[in-house]
Amino acid sequence: MADRIIAIINQKGGTGKTTLALNLAAGLVLRGSTHLVDADPQRSVSQWVGMGAGPAVLPLAVLGGDPVATLAKLARNHRYVVVDCPPAVQGPVIDAVMASANLVLIPVLPSPLDLWASVDMGALVSRARQKNPALQARLVLNQMETRNTLSRAMREAVAAFDMPVLDADMQRRAAYRSAAVEGTSVYGLGKRAQTAVADIEAIIEEVLCL
Ligand SMILES: Nc1ncnc2c1ncn2[C@@H]1O[C@H](COP(=O)(O)OP(=O)(O)O)[C@@H](O)[C@H]1O
Ligand SMILES: [Mg+2]
Repeated sequence: MADRIIAIINQKGGTGKTTLALNLAAGLVLRGSTHLVDADPQRSVSQWVGMGAGPAVLPLAVLGGDPVATLAKLARNHRYVVVDCPPAVQGPVIDAVMASANLVLIPVLPSPLDLWASVDMGALVSRARQKNPALQARLVLNQMETRNTLSRAMREAVAAFDMPVLDADMQRRAAYRSAAVEGTSVYGLGKRAQTAVADIEAIIEEVLCL
């Protein structure tokens, strides 16, 4: 277990990067010192945290200046660093994140188009491994509906993909949206978000065993 810097990436917007980053960090901070990093110029996670999801509990940094040095410093001082990335495959921020991360998580929606849009993510990870050979990568299925045939078919489709997928996934749940609206994580919603918390806990347990 050494996944100190966990970056949430996908070139596509709306796949759940910010949702996963914030809730993952909210679960990790219960286990050890955790720093959330906003690397997206849209600053969604900063706005979210600014509403109340931190910063007392969850310190947040914006990734500017020298991004490699900033990440290295945060990793020295925290057990976990979670980076919410912009929807991009290139640029100084993505380069720094890919050079520094121990693990990238790539949330994908259960649709073939979204899955194919993530093919470039495989190339990005392969390129990054030339300089960062220990970099691990996992797809995370998001907005899953267990009883939905498409979601079941997705599991089979990703199995044929060149990128391993986490067994744990994020189901489509109102709690993720409510947490965002209320400026908190699913952990902050109490009982009504129990199932969403269970999703995130399962993701964390799996990630910490990689
Ligand atoms: N598992 C989920 N269930 C329900 N809504 C979700 C889920 N994951 C994400 N969302 C919603 O989908 C939208 C896009 O998610 P977001 O995390 O902002 O994506 P990204 O950061 O990749 O652009 C947001 O409105 C978010 O609340
Ligand atoms: Mg986002």
